[in-house]
Amino acid sequence: TTEEKMYRPNFHFTPKKGWMNDPNGMFYANGYYHLYYQHYPEKSVWGPMHWGHAISKDLIQWEEQPIALYPDKDKYIFSGSAVVDTHNTSGLGTGKTAPIVAIYTLHDMTKEKEGKIDVEQQDIAYSNDNGFTWQKFEQGNPVIKNPGIRDFRDPKVNWDETHKQWIMSLAAQDRTQFYASKDLKNWKYLSEFGKNIGAHGGVWECPDFFEIKVDGTNETKWVLIQNLNPGGANGGSGTQYFIGDFDGTTFTLDVNFANKVEQEKAVWLDYGKDNYAGVTWNNVPAADGRRLFIGWMSNWDYAQEVPTTAWRSSTTIARELQVIKKGNDYVLINNPVKEINKYIGKTIKVKSLKGKGKLAVAEAGKIDLTKAMLHFNIKNLKQDTYTFTLSNANGEVVSFGINNTDHYLFVDRLKSGKIDFSEKFASTITKAPLDGSQKEGTFKIILDKTSIEIFYNNGEKVITEIFFPNQPYTALSVSSKNGVELNDLEINQLNIN
Ligand code: FRU
Repeated sequence: TTEEKMYRPNFHFTPKKGWMNDPNGMFYANGYYHLYYQHYPEKSVWGPMHWGHAISKDLIQWEEQPIALYPDKDKYIFSGSAVVDTHNTSGLGTGKTAPIVAIYTLHDMTKEKEGKIDVEQQDIAYSNDNGFTWQKFEQGNPVIKNPGIRDFRDPKVNWDETHKQWIMSLAAQDRTQFYASKDLKNWKYLSEFGKNIGAHGGVWECPDFFEIKVDGTNETKWVLIQNLNPGGANGGSGTQYFIGDFDGTTFTLDVNFANKVEQEKAVWLDYGKDNYAGVTWNNVPAADGRRLFIGWMSNWDYAQEVPTTAWRSSTTIARELQVIKKGNDYVLINNPVKEINKYIGKTIKVKSLKGKGKLAVAEAGKIDLTKAMLHFNIKNLKQDTYTFTLSNANGEVVSFGINNTDHYLFVDRLKSGKIDFSEKFASTITKAPLDGSQKEGTFKIILDKTSIEIFYNNGEKVITEIFFPNQPYTALSVSSKNGVELNDLEINQLNIN
């Protein structure tokens, strides 16, 4: 169909049919990265939530699998996580392979319709075939009862190697709660974080809490990812993060990070409108040691109205998270996983592209910009705006770049094609503030048919956005008032779909 041809991404994961939102239960085992997701197979809007399932050997090419978890009548299976229970601490294993234990929120629609508060509880399910088939733990659910909090969901469990415990972060309305367990079945409440700290424009959802090495050192820090909706950096759904320390019970913000949160109100993993509910993989081999992340590439502001009908929504590109130290500050950076490089085909390299007026970065016909990766460095930035324009023969454009007068990165999809399906889709230009005037900046950009992911200065600032042109984008140009100097420009064709 035209819809498939125009809007089915070349390499970002989409379900064949029906609705998808949050990524769930990601883990690695036995050669596969598993990805589950909030899924309603019957319709392309949100509804009775299942866990859909896909697997990948390389985090790039995904193969959809049979649905992993089905809801019982009016008992929706909301977001959650899964762990590989290597030592069978849960006792749910049968001996051959380590059991995989999923921890998710059971949302009771009957209670919701009755106006009750206690609609959400935490349940578990287990798999003894590495995540392909699942049993709900009927005899022991719930593992955490509702304590009288309406929004009480999205348990993310990680193994806390330092304190030898399973650690759960859970979204409880306007804060994160932490719980610990020895067996994944009995959970002890530890502490909470976030009341009056960070962004609070909406409900806190989908947390993730883990220890991570500071890049290039032996020091470790704890990162809390905390999604919220609405109240994101540029409206609607968004992902903030916090960095600090954890003593096994309480999470304490790093002092400089606390100052930053106070000054900026929140620190964002992604400033774009289309990266939500992202969390990380469990059980990535220690020898690899990466912290791998994926998000839902949409926004509750318009996700159910985007102009596709057979399916709705895709995931972001899988990303590696790292904590770096800049001066005295810890920063969480995110970049596309290196596996994307395996797909690089035809490559155009330009040492220096310099001039005034409108410069062609990628001419129509040279590279298919619906599956491409670009990087470049802009040198000698002036008090000027550098605008990159992705365009098609229809006169539709997505522009992005850097405003170095007012110090921000931007993405503008106001004239990007189909925009009127929702008032909220293209009413404002997306901005990511920069700390002061930039002398130079590096960009890495990933393009698919309906998305752009911009990684600025090695993923210190990221913008992810979707668009729906009436014809594919074919060309990319750049311009600024005082001339542009692009260095080490590289444009890669990605041979995937
Ligand atoms: C986030 C979210 C979660 C919830 C799920 C329901 O997008 O609202 O909090 O578990 O979606 O589908």
